[in-house]
Amino acid sequence: MANKNLNKAKEAKKDEFYTQLEDINNEVRHYREHFRGKTVLCNCDDPRISNFFTYFAYNFEFLGLKKLITTCYKNQDADLFSTNKSERAVYLVYEGDKNGDNIPTADEIGVHPLKGNGDFRSAECIELLKEADIVVTNPPFSLFREYVAQLIEHNKKFLIIGHQNALSYKEIFPLIQNNQMWLGYGFKGGAGHFISKYEDTATAGNHKEGMIRVSGVNWFTNLDIQKRHENIILYKQYSPDEYPSYINYDAIEVSKTELIPFDYDGIMGVPITFMDKYNPDQFEIIGIGNGGELGVLCGVSANLSNEECNALFREDRSFRKGKLCYRDKSNKLIGCYARILIKKK
Ligand SMILES: C[S@@+](CC[C@H](N)C(=O)[O-])C[C@H]1O[C@@H](n2cnc3c(N)ncnc32)[C@H](O)[C@@H]1O
Repeated sequence: MANKNLNKAKEAKKDEFYTQLEDINNEVRHYREHFRGKTVLCNCDDPRISNFFTYFAYNFEFLGLKKLITTCYKNQDADLFSTNKSERAVYLVYEGDKNGDNIPTADEIGVHPLKGNGDFRSAECIELLKEADIVVTNPPFSLFREYVAQLIEHNKKFLIIGHQNALSYKEIFPLIQNNQMWLGYGFKGGAGHFISKYEDTATAGNHKEGMIRVSGVNWFTNLDIQKRHENIILYKQYSPDEYPSYINYDAIEVSKTELIPFDYDGIMGVPITFMDKYNPDQFEIIGIGNGGELGVLCGVSANLSNEECNALFREDRSFRKGKLCYRDKSNKLIGCYARILIKKK
């Protein structure tokens, strides 16, 4: 039990990092036309720390917003970064500048108490969610599955930060496959620097004081963006020599997105980073082979017998983990990391 609580606390701590204003601006600027006349909800955001509140309050008139609602989660753990000392969680409502100075001032922002702790799943927060048109925030990564499920259930538009690992979660991947959610423009170099008091244990050279560097973060959205309609330029010609076939799935291995051959009509396995360039008019997503929650089943499409599968298990355990496997030029069995299975349209 003690261990369980400790893990929970660790998870919660990992969730306590805050998005830079610059990163919010870098993404939201691509979505400007979506915000006109809309109610925006930031529902994992202590307005005293969260730059999401600052961004939308200060850009309220520029974006032509109707209303901004921000809920503040009251942390139960005094050790966390959040400085919220109030007995109650609150929500803030801003409906634009009243005195003509274009600056959101204290008397223009309505502060209202919440009955509970401001958990995005609570009934009173769900009522606020119902009022919103677009939800924008960086939710706790540890609750990402539940967070997204709630947005989908309530049919909301959203622009949220998450980790690219979430792409292969069994609850998330079908949304990606069915074009109900896709990746936004993202962070420079695929990594974000977030404001945090916790020590940055990452070894990257570009350490910034007071920040942690999180690699693999991205924006997830269901708002249409130009990027999603741009074709990947394909210049490579298919040859069986350069593109080995998997032995446990009827598809070829393409080790880098830019190497997708222009003349191959069958199924191709590409790295998960393909999702960053995905245009649904150019490619169809068939599935995922990652050895994780949605790993391919042995021999599914390659018609391998049980005996052949067992022999492959003995040769390399990654085969057992449901990974897509191929033989390299020296006949060595290679188990691939996560692969998105795609087909040209
Ligand atoms: C990754 S932080 C990001 C904070 C803020 N959105 C930002 O980007 O600066 C996630 C926030 O969600 C809050 N949080 C954790 N569990 C929550 C819950 N169940 N409901 C609402 N907020 C929660 C945490 O306290 C934390 O401040």
